Amino acid sequence: MNFSVAFKKLLEKMQGSPAENPVRELRLLIGHVLELPQEKLLFDGPTEISSTAFKTLSNYVDRRCQYEPLAKILGYKEFWGLKFRVTAATLDPRPDSEVLIETALKYLPDHQIPLRVLDLGTGSGCLLLSLLSELTTATGVGIDFSEAALAVAQENAQTLKIQDRCEFIQSNWFENVSGRFDIILANPPYIDRSEVLSRQTLYDPETALFAADNGLADYRVILQLARPYLKDGGIIIFEIGHAQADAVNFIAQKNGFNLLVKVKDFNQLDRCLVFS
Ligand SMILES: C[S@@+](CC[C@H](N)C(=O)[O-])C[C@H]1O[C@@H](n2cnc3c(N)ncnc32)[C@H](O)[C@@H]1O
Repeated sequence: MNFSVAFKKLLEKMQGSPAENPVRELRLLIGHVLELPQEKLLFDGPTEISSTAFKTLSNYVDRRCQYEPLAKILGYKEFWGLKFRVTAATLDPRPDSEVLIETALKYLPDHQIPLRVLDLGTGSGCLLLSLLSELTTATGVGIDFSEAALAVAQENAQTLKIQDRCEFIQSNWFENVSGRFDIILANPPYIDRSEVLSRQTLYDPETALFAADNGLADYRVILQLARPYLKDGGIIIFEIGHAQADAVNFIAQKNGFNLLVKVKDFNQLDRCLVFS
């Protein structure tokens, strides 16, 4: 089949999807199926496409029209400039969470010393592995209660060649964690069940999204238990829902933590709290 004809047909269908930029997303899908880098597609693309490839692409575009996120179809998502495998068991890393990495790098005392990092609810491992990619002498532990998510995080560590500096442990928050850490990262579930979410978000695992008590239940548990796991001078960095800063700060104060800074995301919404 002629490539331009195929592209036009697929694009027509793709216009009915929730993609903000249908052309860009279609190119990413085509690159994935034909195993071609984007530059090659743009400047020296194929003239023909096999009927098998066209059928696969057509199926992918149908899935996108059913609101399945592009990352879940491609099987990967970029975060902090790195490529992370994602599956049905992992939350797709969100661009807003990059603010936690920026903040950690800013507030950690000395990047050259071998810092110890704990990532609570590691999912794809995106937070821990991105931070370790910057702090080349640091080591870390990622925990999650989902075995399936931990397998993905481990695979990502291997792909990024960071597996020797991290381990992944199945744990209900601190239950199976030992040792003390310079930094604890946590992006726990924080959405209240009554919140109406976009159809695309519903492809993320429920257990990664929702928490009881107006979305605050997991902050409460983590802040009650965290103290013995922090080294003196250590910090804890949370991702929060944009309206949760005061409530999480209140819980933290009650448990003896001091707010160092509140950081906004790219949309100017409160997204990150740092406590000492
Ligand atoms: C919002 S996702 C964050 C994933 C990843 N850190 C990120 O930022 O993209 C929350 C993660 O916490 C995990 N989780 C939820 N409750 C947990 C618990 N009680 N103990 C350990 N992990 C938990 C979920 O499986 C999920 O991977």
